[in-house]
Amino acid sequence: MGRPTWEAAALLLVLSVSAASRPLHGIVATTESSFQNSEQSFGFNLTLAKTIVEYASAVYMTDLTELYTWTCSKCNDLIQGFEMRCLIVDVQSCLQAFVGVDHGLNSIIVSIRGTQENSVQNWIKDMLWKQVDLNYPNMPNAKVHTGFYSSYNNTLLRPVIANAVCKARKLYGHMSIIVTGHSMGGALASFCALDLAITHGGNNVYLMTFGQPRVGNTAFASYFTKYVPNTIRVTHEHDIVPHLPPYFFIFPHQTYHHFPREVWEHEVDGNTVYQVCDGSGEDPNCSRSVFVFFWSASDHLTYLGVDMEADDWSTCRIVLGSSVEQFLQTRLATGSGDAAAVDVVVVADHGVLVGWS
Ligand SMILES: *[C@@H]1O[C@H](CO)[C@@H](O)[C@H](O)[C@H]1NC(C)=O
Ligand SMILES: *[C@@H]1O[C@H](CO)[C@@H](O)[C@H](O)[C@H]1NC(C)=O
Ligand SMILES: *[C@@H]1O[C@H](CO)[C@@H](O)[C@H](O)[C@H]1NC(C)=O
Repeated sequence: MGRPTWEAAALLLVLSVSAASRPLHGIVATTESSFQNSEQSFGFNLTLAKTIVEYASAVYMTDLTELYTWTCSKCNDLIQGFEMRCLIVDVQSCLQAFVGVDHGLNSIIVSIRGTQENSVQNWIKDMLWKQVDLNYPNMPNAKVHTGFYSSYNNTLLRPVIANAVCKARKLYGHMSIIVTGHSMGGALASFCALDLAITHGGNNVYLMTFGQPRVGNTAFASYFTKYVPNTIRVTHEHDIVPHLPPYFFIFPHQTYHHFPREVWEHEVDGNTVYQVCDGSGEDPNCSRSVFVFFWSASDHLTYLGVDMEADDWSTCRIVLGSSVEQFLQTRLATGSGDAAAVDVVVVADHGVLVGWS
């Protein structure tokens, strides 16, 4: 992560203080017991994960036309044949998502990309001192990160994804819904999966995120586990992002707390293992066992051997304005008004809905 900063030093200090306070486990134990620990047998399907990670990677592609036609360089391999139903691009908020159907998996896929501005490092630094500061609606005591929640709730993502999923289910019947995302996209995907689970039933929704940050407190994690039981949070080696915003077990009420189930991808004696972690969400034997000095930003950018970077980090720009308009004109000319053209494209440019076909 480059040279140490005072933030990192201060964080280290706080973490050391909490480690030194470990014997105070009585306090921790009572509050942690309010987290519903689910210890039923749990399987991690690596074959499925290898497909889902490709969807989480593909949503980083910045060429809208290639994504729409599913001809992008990442749109092949295990995810070939994907049927794009809806592509959402919010230029102003720098968000991107798609909804479509994987007929091989007989599932609706929702993949979300979040903004990281132009530097992962700055984004990581911003998360060091973030508080859980927003009461999650209709869930007493549940608090979440305002920034992550707003990016999902107060943009086009929430209504457009909900609508696209409903349409796909109407068209193809009772398919299960797989929601995915990497990094901040994983945080947004969590909120999306929770919404979809409340609407379509928790048994029909499957969430798998890669290198996501923490999004809420202990109470929120508890609700989450109840509503979205089929959740896997993949972490990779020393990836720093799952450690942020920090978890302080001496302040169980104020602190962020991951929901389960973490699966930790790491090397053991030269072999990659996928360690299925405990049902607490904060298994001390999984990625939490990595000491703060070894946290790494580069381990954030690869998951299951797949590259999770944007193809263009130089700006937050997803597509150039003129190419968006051109693209939409073509789409609107060929598709609109035709009842069979079920595809939806939404582009918001500076808050203005540019197109919806
Ligand atoms: C794992 O997922 C694949 C689909 O990708 C499926 O064909 C296979 O049956 C699953 N395996 C288990 C053990 O559920
Ligand atoms: C979430 O979105 C709804 C509908 O747009 C809005 O009424 C509500 O205030 C939003 N919640 C937050 C916390 O921003
Ligand atoms: C962590 O691992 C150690 C040894 O491998 C084991 O004794 C301990 O019970 C584990 N702790 C948890 C919380 O799983």
